[in-house]
Amino acid sequence: MDPVRNPYAPGAGQRPPELAGRGRELDVFDVVLERIARGRPERSLMLTGLRGVGKTVLLNTLRSEAINHLWGTGKIEARPDQSLRRPIAAALHMAVRELAPRHRAPDRIDAFLGVLKAFAQRSTPPSGRGGAAPKLRDRWQPGIDVPASSGRADSGDIEIDLVELLSDAAAVATDVGTGIAVFIDEMQDVGAEDVSALCAACHELSQLGAPLIVVGAGLPHLPAVLSAAKSYSERLYRYQRIDRLDRIAADQALCAPAEREEVEYEQKALDLLYEKSGGYPYFVQAYGKATWDHAPRSPITAADVRVAAPEAEAELAVGFFGSRFERATPAEREYMRAMATLALVDGEEGGRDDMDAAVPTADIARALGRKPASLSPARDALIKKGLIYSGERGTVAFTVPHFGRYLRTQPA
Ligand SMILES: Nc1ncnc2c1ncn2[C@@H]1O[C@H](COP(=O)(O)OP(=O)(O)OP(=O)(O)O)[C@@H](O)[C@H]1O
Ligand SMILES: [Mg+2]
Repeated sequence: MDPVRNPYAPGAGQRPPELAGRGRELDVFDVVLERIARGRPERSLMLTGLRGVGKTVLLNTLRSEAINHLWGTGKIEARPDQSLRRPIAAALHMAVRELAPRHRAPDRIDAFLGVLKAFAQRSTPPSGRGGAAPKLRDRWQPGIDVPASSGRADSGDIEIDLVELLSDAAAVATDVGTGIAVFIDEMQDVGAEDVSALCAACHELSQLGAPLIVVGAGLPHLPAVLSAAKSYSERLYRYQRIDRLDRIAADQALCAPAEREEVEYEQKALDLLYEKSGGYPYFVQAYGKATWDHAPRSPITAADVRVAAPEAEAELAVGFFGSRFERATPAEREYMRAMATLALVDGEEGGRDDMDAAVPTADIARALGRKPASLSPARDALIKKGLIYSGERGTVAFTVPHFGRYLRTQPA
């Protein structure tokens, strides 16, 4: 069929033609926005899930929802080894700029911007060794015209400063009768000290009933990262597991966009597409896209899916799996291969659990004939690279769905 009209959108953060199966999450968020705007206590939200399940897309959708409710919003994508100070300052700057035109007292906005500037400037970028230029991300200029104030949010202690800055931002939102939502993607990558500060700030704001929430998204071990920082974090956040789509939602993700182009699927084609994708949104888009391009006409048949599948798989092997695999060192690859093999032994071939099950680290050490402690560096590096996570103590699992199966097809 006409590739130009192909509606599907496989890609990181690519807005899908149809956001299927997320009605519950959207409803919850609507209630949260309404409650906070009315000064009711609410917890910040944390979306967790594997790679490619649609966390970024959902986060962006929630942000649009907040904007529709006239909230001020800002968004950050956390990166390992990056301080939160400047990105969060930039996000709050954006949020308050959205509210400013509706504020009746411009001097209140200026006062906040003065505090914001002081907060942002408090971080001294690590002066490059041997006079090397600072990294691009450290060169962010707040672009705020008002002079930096002093004595608030500029102590240098990120926890104190963040609490003060976020409460001041919330006060601006209170003035205009709305709220502020700060969205943090890849939140598992926020450094330990910053996570701790962020939890403290959320804790403080919720006690004050201040209209500011943090909406985070991250890998499945995000709850563990947060509770390692502050033990009360389990009660502080509302966790929502973003999972693969059920059959009805997956069919809708494929059929609704096709219908708009007057294209239909045969039932058997949808059966086979679900079998291939396992309902993982990234895979739904990838198989949908390849199938569309190969199908000669509507309705799309199971035979069309069969013809197109190898192309979808080849594309996934490069773009979805390969790009991640390449980030691993030889020792890390060996570690992941052992994981992939063990997941197969423990599970049933063909099922979903054989591919995405958690594997005891002790078994990996045994399989590789090594002492568990000698494998810790590889394990920790893979966690830091976001390729595996440790949901339960003493086990690891892939963050990328179907990664085990991919690895088993790769030559050693
Ligand atoms: N609800 C949905 N219905 C249909 N397609 C979806 C849905 N959510 C996401 N997608 C598609 O899935 C793909 C992955 O989405 P997204 O990048 O948001 O995932 P992610 O969870 O953020 O992944 P990562 O952990 O790698 O950042 C995109 O191509 C997107 O269009
Ligand atoms: Mg993402």
